[in-house]
Amino acid sequence: MSWLVTGGAGYIGSHVVASLIEAGMAPVVIDDLSSGHAQFVPADVPFVRGSVLDTALVEQTLREHEVEGVIHLAGFKYAGVSVQRPLHTYAQNVTGTANLLDAMLTVGVDKLVFSSSAATFGTPDLDLVTEETPTDPESPYGESKLIGEWLIRDVATAHGLRHTSLRYFNVVGSGSDALYDSSPHNLFPLVFEALTEGRTPRINGEDYPTPDGTCVRDYVHVADLAHSHVVAARRMIEGATLEPVYNLGSGEGSSVRQIMDAVREVTGIDFAPDIGPRRPGDPARIVATGELARRDLGWEMRNSLTDMVASAWSARQAAERVSS
Ligand SMILES: NC(=O)c1ccc[n+]([C@@H]2O[C@H](COP(=O)([O-])OP(=O)(O)OC[C@H]3O[C@@H](n4cnc5c(N)ncnc54)[C@H](O)[C@@H]3O)[C@@H](O)[C@H]2O)c1
Repeated sequence: MSWLVTGGAGYIGSHVVASLIEAGMAPVVIDDLSSGHAQFVPADVPFVRGSVLDTALVEQTLREHEVEGVIHLAGFKYAGVSVQRPLHTYAQNVTGTANLLDAMLTVGVDKLVFSSSAATFGTPDLDLVTEETPTDPESPYGESKLIGEWLIRDVATAHGLRHTSLRYFNVVGSGSDALYDSSPHNLFPLVFEALTEGRTPRINGEDYPTPDGTCVRDYVHVADLAHSHVVAARRMIEGATLEPVYNLGSGEGSSVRQIMDAVREVTGIDFAPDIGPRRPGDPARIVATGELARRDLGWEMRNSLTDMVASAWSARQAAERVSS
């Protein structure tokens, strides 16, 4: 028996694969490499190159590898770009999830862990987001993740699926030097890219109503996050009933300026960030409690902010060495 990781060649998916291996559970990866990297998949892990939109291929993969359950991370994750590319976003994230569910029903696979997002909340005006906080997505990306959750819930009602959706907040860090976030839009890669190219990193707005005036976000380490996917999978195998949704937040926020300070300390590069104007639509603060996930999914912050920055920087430098 194995677990299928869709998007397993991506940043988070490759960490989930590593966690499954560590737990002695056999992963299989399907990924179309639209944003992932083939070298992120260990050589001894079966790798099917293709899209979750290809229902026949997914069915074949589920059968051939005797898949017991699926951890579904494949998707298009750029909220900003999704505003310009709604149809692409819906195809990858909504139709992709629907086709995957269809294949699972046909083959009789009945366990699913879904990768959802804090973007389902939009910009809640609250100090601490909980699972009870009303959803109000503000981009096609956030909407597509919420529809994914609904699809899964409805299929579970109709056909009896064991499932949970994990809403990630700001996922950063690296579990090993071989795996890193190559997103062109996330804060850590952007700051590292600027430093590597000799440019000064920029803070977008320092007049927010936060302690130091810069936006506060909830940063979580990718390896801690990956571990909770495996706990969720295990608990489903044991027959536990999980909540339909968990927030994987730390309960604590860090400001963009605190991140810049940590980057300066970790890299040893002395810089004073440029200050730009606010970016439209950036909320002052989003921080979530991870209490429910702590109760059910072994969710805990094993890594400090410095660990997150240091591991991300180290993996980034290792990647630069390989490519040069
Ligand atoms: N990184 C974050 O902070 C964050 C936050 C919230 C939610 N998420 C969600 O987590 C998941 C993984 O994100 P990530 O940061 O690892 O991004 P990523 O882009 O590194 O990984 C996505 C992976 O899915 C693959 N993929 C995309 N469309 C596919 C398709 N149709 N069929 C097969 N493979 C496909 C890509 O090639 C890539 O390997 C995504 O669904 C994303 O929306 C990420």
